[in-house]
Amino acid sequence: MRTQVVIVGAGPSGLLLGQLLYKAGIDNIILERQTGEYVLGRIRAGVLEQVAVDLLDRAGVGSRMHEEGLPHHGIELLFKGERHRIDLTGLSGGKSVLVYGQTEVTRDLMEVRAAEGLTTIYEASNVSLHDFDSERPRVRYTKNGQEHEIECDFIAGCDGFHGVSRASVPASAIHNYEKVYPFGWLGLLSDTPPVSDELIYANTPRGFALCSMRSLTRSRYYLQVPLTDKVESWSDEAFWNELRLRLDAEARERLVTGPSLEKSIAPLRSFVAEPMRFGRLFLAGDAAHIVPPTGAKGLNLAASDVGYLSESITEYYDEKSQAGIDTYSQRCLSRIWKAERFSWWFTSLMHRFPAEGEFGQKIQEAELEYLVKSVAASTSLAENYVGLPMK
Ligand code: FAD
Ligand code: DHB
Repeated sequence: MRTQVVIVGAGPSGLLLGQLLYKAGIDNIILERQTGEYVLGRIRAGVLEQVAVDLLDRAGVGSRMHEEGLPHHGIELLFKGERHRIDLTGLSGGKSVLVYGQTEVTRDLMEVRAAEGLTTIYEASNVSLHDFDSERPRVRYTKNGQEHEIECDFIAGCDGFHGVSRASVPASAIHNYEKVYPFGWLGLLSDTPPVSDELIYANTPRGFALCSMRSLTRSRYYLQVPLTDKVESWSDEAFWNELRLRLDAEARERLVTGPSLEKSIAPLRSFVAEPMRFGRLFLAGDAAHIVPPTGAKGLNLAASDVGYLSESITEYYDEKSQAGIDTYSQRCLSRIWKAERFSWWFTSLMHRFPAEGEFGQKIQEAELEYLVKSVAASTSLAENYVGLPMK
């Protein structure tokens, strides 16, 4: 088999890259280890920046997103029992974000790929990458017990943090930067109306809480929990009780509870691998970097990476130019480190860090008060939350 680009991973970055390349007339095959249903079953991000919305539009998959997505113009910060609104749109020169879940983005991309008759090989095991430091890279995989090989011009590693692509690069050629946080997020999804029109980020004595949503009838809530907690030991009732304790009186009153559709614990991590290109192998999305979820940058960064990558590969074929490919890593990393900084800062501001002691706690309170009172500080939050420009 031969194609122009082999994409490893059918998460949002792999699927979006496949569609952007297809639109540019570039053949690609996606190899995915799991089934399509499994990929859709993972409940993850929920907030899209304008940059991601524009890329999904460019890929021709924006119609349901615009019909069903909820534009949000502000967020609320809750601390010391009071909520303070950050006017994202007013402070960012008119920008907003769109609440539309990663599951829906993935479903839209899968459907359009199937409708165009493009090849995605699900349940591909033993994926291995070869000769990406030459002009003729190859990718091998096993499907139904049979081995296959695809020859290609480029390999895109869109296979997430635990994928094979980054692991295929010799350790001497890559540098990893990492910070792990001493807690995780316990998330719960339920078919209940959201507690508020806008997202609430809460810093409370019992730890962080986030009230988010997927639609006007589906809510997504998160609680900061110790890393030692097991999801099995959190009943729905225990979750709702704990959430109530972390809300202000009005939200507590309005909270509608119900059975969970999904519940899971995610550890929090900051991680960047540099560079993101090795000959004819490119890393994109979670394969190259992880942000702690506070501020919802993970999916948005995955989208901007593949925006840069699709442009670079298109330029290579259309204009016979290597320039985009040669600067891919540097352009991505410049945007990634700014989102890493923002996600680390917002995580540090909103969570409880017992090891930081009373002094750390006081500094956090002072910063929160400054943030909601100072136009300069809240403008910076708004500018980063709605997303920095790609160029
Ligand atoms: P992924 O979505 O991880 O997709 C990678 C794909 O590659 C997967 O389908 C995987 O099965 C496949 N794959 C892996 N290894 C192989 C292999 N060897 N061969 C073939 N295929 C392979 N972001 C937010 O903004 N907000 C959130 O609330 C949020 N919550 C999250 C919760 C969790 C538990 C996790 C893990 C992430 C969360 N994120 C969140 C981050 C966001 O979901 C990711 O940034 C986004 O999924 C990145 O997309 P991706 O396509 O790069 O990687
Ligand atoms: C969601 C997740 C986030 O990390 C965030 O900052 C906002 C929303 C969500 O899953 O809905």
